[in-house]
Amino acid sequence: MIDSGGDGRSTVLLVEPDAVVGEAAARCLSAEGCEVLHAASTAQAVGVLQRHAVQVVFTELSEPPADGLELLRYVKANHPEAVVVFMTGYGSIESAVQAIKQGAFDYLPKPIVEDDLRLTVGRALQQQGLLAENRRLKAAVSDLASSGQIVGSDYRMMKVFELVDAVADSRATVLITGESGTGKSLIARAIHQRSGRRQAPFVEVACGALPEMLLESELFGHVKGAFTDAVASRPGKFAAAHGGTIFLDEISTASPALQMKLLRVLQERTFEPVGSNQTLSVDVRVILASNRDLWGEVEAGRFRRDLYYRVNVVNIELPPLRERIADIALLAEHFLTRFRRENGKLIAGFTDEAVQALQSYHWPGNVRELENCIERAVVLCRSARVGVEDLPAEVSGLVRPVARAPAGGGSGAAGPARPHPDCTLAEAMAEPEKQIIRAVLSAHGGNRTAAAAALGINRTTLYKKMRKHSLLDAAGSRAGS
Ligand SMILES: Nc1ncnc2c1ncn2[C@@H]1O[C@H](COP(=O)(O)OP(=O)(O)O)[C@@H](O)[C@H]1O
Ligand SMILES: [Mg+2]
Repeated sequence: MIDSGGDGRSTVLLVEPDAVVGEAAARCLSAEGCEVLHAASTAQAVGVLQRHAVQVVFTELSEPPADGLELLRYVKANHPEAVVVFMTGYGSIESAVQAIKQGAFDYLPKPIVEDDLRLTVGRALQQQGLLAENRRLKAAVSDLASSGQIVGSDYRMMKVFELVDAVADSRATVLITGESGTGKSLIARAIHQRSGRRQAPFVEVACGALPEMLLESELFGHVKGAFTDAVASRPGKFAAAHGGTIFLDEISTASPALQMKLLRVLQERTFEPVGSNQTLSVDVRVILASNRDLWGEVEAGRFRRDLYYRVNVVNIELPPLRERIADIALLAEHFLTRFRRENGKLIAGFTDEAVQALQSYHWPGNVRELENCIERAVVLCRSARVGVEDLPAEVSGLVRPVARAPAGGGSGAAGPARPHPDCTLAEAMAEPEKQIIRAVLSAHGGNRTAAAAALGINRTTLYKKMRKHSLLDAAGSRAGS
């Protein structure tokens, strides 16, 4: 059975002038769980596509009145998510190959063999699902990332962007978790800016920075004389955020008394200022952040379970930078653009060695640390490109000596990427393979058994590949840190 992944069955359009052939194919596709629509000509097919959401089009290639290539062009231009498969007699395989070059997904030789049809529709639907998912993610990303403020291409970050989009316009409480410097504050602000509350204030409170008594008054305000220093009444941050968003950072540090008060605000949107018995009500959207595992805090008895459930309505988890290797170069470029402008410097980019060092480092301070590192490098840089010598010792120390060695003749696969238009496939694949292995290793904390399983290779193969790519030392030092 084929599942469209959505609410119902997958819809297939069959464009076949020959009714007998069409019916046989339709029976087979229906048995596979597809909804099948028919058209006897290209013109009819266009009409059907305008009225129905179709995932896969099977079309006769060149038997009039079906003109498969014309239909392919129409689908590409107007329904880019649909996948086109040609059906054609053995005599015109060459033109079918031609058609694939123009963007058809596959072709089925006629007479149609049912097993082939089943396999082909399965693969076409899978491809279609990937296309649709890709477009959805890209739309979400370009939306959020086009602000130029938030950079990310890692799959998990795309999921984050998608979630930001989905929850922004609700009042749902959002809990953002992630290590320090992963972008929690940035994401909180992005949610606010993309919500209907964007004209109203976004108020940020670093809960960990204030002693308990001050924090309570900071959040809820106080009346004159409520405590020694309360010489005048003062509205708190909740009142200041009325109509907008309040962002409570480092929420795990809240005291038991404060947790109780927060629970009430989240439940009823009401509170009393310190020293007052007047109940105030507010309309605020609450976003919270924690760099500690909040559930762990619940289990340790430090965080109220009922508050946890209130807080954890929507959880956005930001992966540490070392787990999104592909984002490191992007972010480095992003910060370089900013800091070279601020410093009035002409720096074209990074040397390969510098990028390699940046990608090998484990970034305990995450994006914030990378940001500082690039700012420092821009200030220090005396040449056209930021090199390893401009990076802090803990980062530059990770450059493999082999990268500096003069390029020998033979097995250059492990060397830095060289602009070499006609390198062998193995050479071209070496760098991507290395990146993938490094990323997966780091995602599994250096555990080779887990990484090998995730990569679908055995441990010995992984070990050999690590040795080939000089990843044994880097992995060892990372696991130890
Ligand atoms: N995806 C990102 N794109 C661009 N800048 C980022 C990204 N993530 C974090 N930053 C920047 O890194 C720094 C740290 O982010 P921040 O949101 O303060 O982290 P956290 O609140 O998790 O400690 C900020 O200057 C922020 O703008
Ligand atoms: Mg923060």
